[in-house]
Amino acid sequence: MYSSRRVFLRSVAGTGLFAYGWLRDGWSAHVAAAQEAAPPTERPVVTAGNENFWFNIQQAFDVDRSIINLNNGGVCPSPRVVHSAYKRQLDWANHAPARHLWQEQDPQVELVRVRLARAFGCDPEELAITRNASESLQIVLNGIDLKPGDEILTTTQDYPRMLETIRQRERRDGIVMKQLKLPVPIESADQVLRLFEQHLNEKTRVVLFCHVVNITGQILPVADICRMARERGIRTIVDGAHAFSQITFQCADLECDYYGVSLHKWLTAPIGTGFLYVRRELIRDLWPLQAAPREKDADIRKFEEIGTHPTAPRLAIAEALTFYQGIGPARKEARLRWLRDYWAQRLSKYEQVKFHTNLDPAHSCAIATFEIAGIDSQALTQHLWDRHKIIVTPILHEDFQGIRVTPNVYTTTNELDIFCEAIERVIEKGLPTAEAPATTSPATTSEATEPATPEE
Ligand SMILES: Cc1ncc(COP(=O)(O)O)c(C=O)c1O
Repeated sequence: MYSSRRVFLRSVAGTGLFAYGWLRDGWSAHVAAAQEAAPPTERPVVTAGNENFWFNIQQAFDVDRSIINLNNGGVCPSPRVVHSAYKRQLDWANHAPARHLWQEQDPQVELVRVRLARAFGCDPEELAITRNASESLQIVLNGIDLKPGDEILTTTQDYPRMLETIRQRERRDGIVMKQLKLPVPIESADQVLRLFEQHLNEKTRVVLFCHVVNITGQILPVADICRMARERGIRTIVDGAHAFSQITFQCADLECDYYGVSLHKWLTAPIGTGFLYVRRELIRDLWPLQAAPREKDADIRKFEEIGTHPTAPRLAIAEALTFYQGIGPARKEARLRWLRDYWAQRLSKYEQVKFHTNLDPAHSCAIATFEIAGIDSQALTQHLWDRHKIIVTPILHEDFQGIRVTPNVYTTTNELDIFCEAIERVIEKGLPTAEAPATTSPATTSEATEPATPEE
């Protein structure tokens, strides 16, 4: 029975019906089918444009194809196989929470820690599983000992919730926040490094910055900044909300002290998952957000002391890692850049289009932000939703405005064509004057920029 099925599958594959992931048992079959569409020896930049491979990945998601979601920066849908694991674990816990949740599922989180640490490239004893990047970074920003007058250097493009956390410490502890302005777009890693260098002084104790800036998609030179800070005895907190599993790197490449991630963004893990990396020798001196016993002072698990909470999302991180590793990190990064180039190169031909992202592969990946001269970005976002059911994010920053576009691995070129045509129509004709009445939609909520309230 099994072998005849294999013969059948081989014959179907021979006909060029590459999507036979559908015919197999189980949802992860799509990844297996994708793998067969691209031999392991194929270079990632080649696989990036191999539509047979990506068709199978696209089919692994249960997304609503009657809308076009180009805001995968805020939060991403999970593939079916991840969502199913999440629901399965949730149901299992509910059968007898006191036993299943506490006695069985909680201990299994340890293997998820190991798998995440292997993917990130750190020791499992340096990685705490959290609910998101906000929690990870607030643990550090609130838990680090600072005296009145001590300074934290950050940028005007850091995430508002993190800036608010520092402002609260200003009010509470008399510390001082200094902010530098990043260029838009960034020209070179050296330019960024020099800027940080110019703003450090003898009172700077901590530097906080993004690995990938959420409002432009710019990749910052993390290791260079961290090395420079370390030479001056300054601690480095890196906001990696957008970096892990969008771009490929290892913890050792970063040289930072603390790193916070959201896993419901690029890893496509269930909503409410993230991690915090703390360099081993710094764990003891960092206070947790919720009190933990003294015996746990040097234990990374003290940052996970948050009372009773669902284990299901944490356990399903393992399935999201399997999905990600099944695609291949280098292939995913190459595809994300390929998709970005697919739409951005087409639109960059128009002189009215101004990019706020440096599109050089060294400086950006999936995310890019642009504006159309003379067109209000908030109104454009609303128009794209109302007329075309396309979700993008308006970026309304004190230094610039635009719309941020973030496809993900499930995005099709057809969807990007429709997006480009909609933008080309606006370039040619402007926004329609009598726009349909505004509807409340995810497309109308702006990506968190200062001074707006953080919302994604
Ligand atoms: C740069 C950056 N940091 C932190 C966060 C917070 O992420 P979360 O809401 O998942 O905690 C975001 C969310 O968009 C972000 O873009």
